[in-house]
Amino acid sequence: MTPFLQMTSISKTFPGVKALDGVTLELQAGEVHVLAGENGAGKSTLMKIMTGVLQADPGGTIRIEGQEVDIRDPVHARALGISIIYQELSVVNNLTVAENIFLAREPRNAFGLLDRPRMVAEARRALAELEVDIDPGARVGTLSIGQRQLVEIARAISYRSRLIIMDEPTASLSHHEAQVLMKLVRKLAAQGIGIVYISHKLEEIFEIADRISVLRDGRSVGTHPAAEMNRDRLVREMVNRDFGALFGTHVSHTTDEVLLSVRNLSEKRPGSRGTRVRDISFDLRRGEILGFFGLVGAGRTEVMEMIFGNRPATGEIRIAGRPVRIASPSDAIAEGLGFVTENRQELGLVLGMTVRENFSLTHLADYCSLDVVNRPRETAACVDYIRALGIKTPSPEQKVLNLSGGNQQKVVIAKWVARKPRILIVDEPTRGIDIGAKAEVHALLNRLASEGISIIVVSSDLPEVLAISDRVIVLKEGRISGELARDAATQERVMLAATG
Ligand SMILES: Nc1ncnc2c1ncn2[C@@H]1O[C@H](COP(=O)(O)OP(=O)(O)OP(=O)(O)O)[C@@H](O)[C@H]1O
Ligand SMILES: [Mg+2]
Repeated sequence: MTPFLQMTSISKTFPGVKALDGVTLELQAGEVHVLAGENGAGKSTLMKIMTGVLQADPGGTIRIEGQEVDIRDPVHARALGISIIYQELSVVNNLTVAENIFLAREPRNAFGLLDRPRMVAEARRALAELEVDIDPGARVGTLSIGQRQLVEIARAISYRSRLIIMDEPTASLSHHEAQVLMKLVRKLAAQGIGIVYISHKLEEIFEIADRISVLRDGRSVGTHPAAEMNRDRLVREMVNRDFGALFGTHVSHTTDEVLLSVRNLSEKRPGSRGTRVRDISFDLRRGEILGFFGLVGAGRTEVMEMIFGNRPATGEIRIAGRPVRIASPSDAIAEGLGFVTENRQELGLVLGMTVRENFSLTHLADYCSLDVVNRPRETAACVDYIRALGIKTPSPEQKVLNLSGGNQQKVVIAKWVARKPRILIVDEPTRGIDIGAKAEVHALLNRLASEGISIIVVSSDLPEVLAISDRVIVLKEGRISGELARDAATQERVMLAATG
């Protein structure tokens, strides 16, 4: 059977980086084809070529149903039946949901005017197909990240494409939303639509894939039917190491000394998502890794924002026994707190700046004497972290914009860790990070704990929370609903506390 799409000998060179080197990929109509590989392996670049966002180097060919094509730009790609859901959200926050779904192709009436009722009705239908309850008239900026992603998915589906590319579509979704999406992916495939599905979540890959292709360092490693693959083989093809060797055993560095003490912390106003976080009380010890788990919307991020001075709150916070007043992030930083935020593009990075500039933004003073920056020292420190975290970049002078998604996340982690905070809060630290890098991040957090830094890890990845934490606090609907010591924290117990 002629494949719907065939890419042969595709290469792509950026200044200083060979992102793709003779890649081959074949996609059948109606299959779910998972594309796997480490951060920076070239997955997103290959998809950008497929959708006309980038042009491949000369020498390769792309065929659609056997016909050689030259995909000139995204509009052309869409006309050929190819659409994409981007890894980084591309919805426009100050437009409504319906306006986003129909951006630049709004339905018009007989007079050529915007047919708003029809637009809203069609948006509602697209959302209903996704089984999500989002108001088409809501401004996208008021939605959670998970909901924004669903709007983007609704947009792609409404194009009636023949091939839909999903680049880490579930990275920001709750477990339930992810399940809804995967059911939908199956439904689309059954209708004959081809799906390219990029994900770093191994369970998800095996749940959804018909076939799996692996990229490593810009080269094709191979394509296999999912039934012939297993976790160990996939990890070996991706990172060239064994799964078992990646994650070490957990060693606790918790001491008796309470470093952070939070009492009756409550949000001043209800959050945008309706729930109000209240009566949060807990202690964090020196050297402890404390996990915060809860379903999406439980209020985990809100709690951290309150502690970090990003969100108005009442209650009491003590650090090393001393009451502190944290009214803004700069107060928090002055008290020795660091915060790796959940949404790296909004809060964590300045995309147009280089890796080095982003890195030292939090602690530039460390490299200054008499107000002059010691550039070689700054660069050397940055290079140390690039090595320690395996950040894939040709140099510290690369713009962060040009790094792959997972490598951007590593830069966010590096810039906070380098500041040597006493208390480090990390919100979804390994979202979008490949399995090898995830192990590196876990090892790094553990090393920091051994140096006496106290760490709060917020994650919706339950296996991750259980693997890394000395103790787990569970949130439900804005309140603490459970606290479990490491030995007592099983998947079942934590889920029970989270769902009630
Ligand atoms: N515009 C660009 N300029 C320079 N280098 C780039 C550009 N876009 C991508 N790269 C580089 O190309 C390589 C492949 O990046 P790509 O985004 O395709 O990786 P990926 O497999 O999608 O990774 P991730 O899992 O982290 O999203 C990386 O080394 C990246 O830094
Ligand atoms: Mg990518």
